[in-house]
Amino acid sequence: MTFFVIFFLFLSSATACDRCVRESKAAFFSPSSSLTAGTCGYGSIALLFNRGFVAAASPSLYRHGIGCGGCFQIRCRNAELCSGTGVKIVVTDSHGSNTTDFVLSSPAFASMARPGMAGGLSRLGIVEVEHKRIPCEYPNRNLSIRVEESSRKPSSLTVKLLYQGGQTDIMGVDVARVDSPAWQFMSRRNGAVWATSRAPGGPLQFRFVVTGGYDGKWVWAEREVLPAEWRAGEVYDAGVQITDIAQEGCFHCDTREWR
Ligand SMILES: *[C@@H]1O[C@H](CO)[C@@H](O)[C@H](O)[C@H]1NC(C)=O
Ligand SMILES: *[C@@H]1O[C@H](CO)[C@@H](O)[C@H](O)[C@H]1NC(C)=O
Repeated sequence: MTFFVIFFLFLSSATACDRCVRESKAAFFSPSSSLTAGTCGYGSIALLFNRGFVAAASPSLYRHGIGCGGCFQIRCRNAELCSGTGVKIVVTDSHGSNTTDFVLSSPAFASMARPGMAGGLSRLGIVEVEHKRIPCEYPNRNLSIRVEESSRKPSSLTVKLLYQGGQTDIMGVDVARVDSPAWQFMSRRNGAVWATSRAPGGPLQFRFVVTGGYDGKWVWAEREVLPAEWRAGEVYDAGVQITDIAQEGCFHCDTREWR
C-alpha cells in the first residue's frame, strides 16, 4: 500500500520522458591510452565504439557498472565557445566525483566546441554542461559477446558485452545450451563483464534482461551464439540488437534534437 501511494505521487509530479536533461560539469583527460583502462572492462575495443568519443561517468551515473555502455549527448553552456549540438559519447569508465558528471576523452571534449574554438574550450579544462541520455546506435552491428581470457572449459565462462544498442540497462544475462530450457544466470563481475562458474556445455544461447525507467523485457537470440568449441579472445554476434528506449521521470524533458 505504501509503495502504491509513493508511486502515484511520483508519477503525478514528473513526466514520463526519454530525454531527461540534467545540468552538471564536464572535464577531460588527455592521453587516449587511458581510455583503454576503463573500469567497464572494454579495453582497447572501447576505441572502436564511437570514434574514441568515450567518457568516465560519476558514481551516480556509473551505478556500480550498470551505466557502462550507455550513450549521452553532452553540450557545454558557454555560448561563445560551445556548439548547440555538443557531443555524443559512450560510457566506458568511472571516476570518483558526483559534482562532475563526465570526464571526457580529449577529442570528445574538443568536439563540444564551435568551429575554431576547440583550443579555447580545452584551456578551460572544466565546463558547465547539460546532458541527456540518448539511444546507442551501432549501424551494422548486433549486440556481441567477447569470450574473456579468464574462461576455462568446461564450465567457467566470462564474457564481455559489446555494441550495446538502445537506451536501456542490461540487468541480467542468462546462458543455456541451445534447445535446453535450463538457463543459468551469469553475474556482473564488473561493468560490461559477466561470469558464471556453471556454464553448460555448448553450443550456447543467451538471453538478456533489459530495463530502464518504468519497463523491462527479455531480449533473446533464439539461436546458437557460442559454438561448442568457443574460444577465448573471440567476439561472437549475439544475433539480436537492443533497440528499446526506456522512459524515466524528470522535470526537464527535451525531446527536440540538439543542433
Ligand atoms: C554519488 O551519488 C550517489 C547517488 O546518486 C551516491 O550513492 C554516492 O554515494 C555518491 N558518491 C560520492 C562519491 O559522492
Ligand atoms: C544480426 O543478427 C541477425 C539475426 O541473427 C542477422 O540476420 C544479421 O545479419 C546480424 N547483423 C549483423 C550486422 O551481423
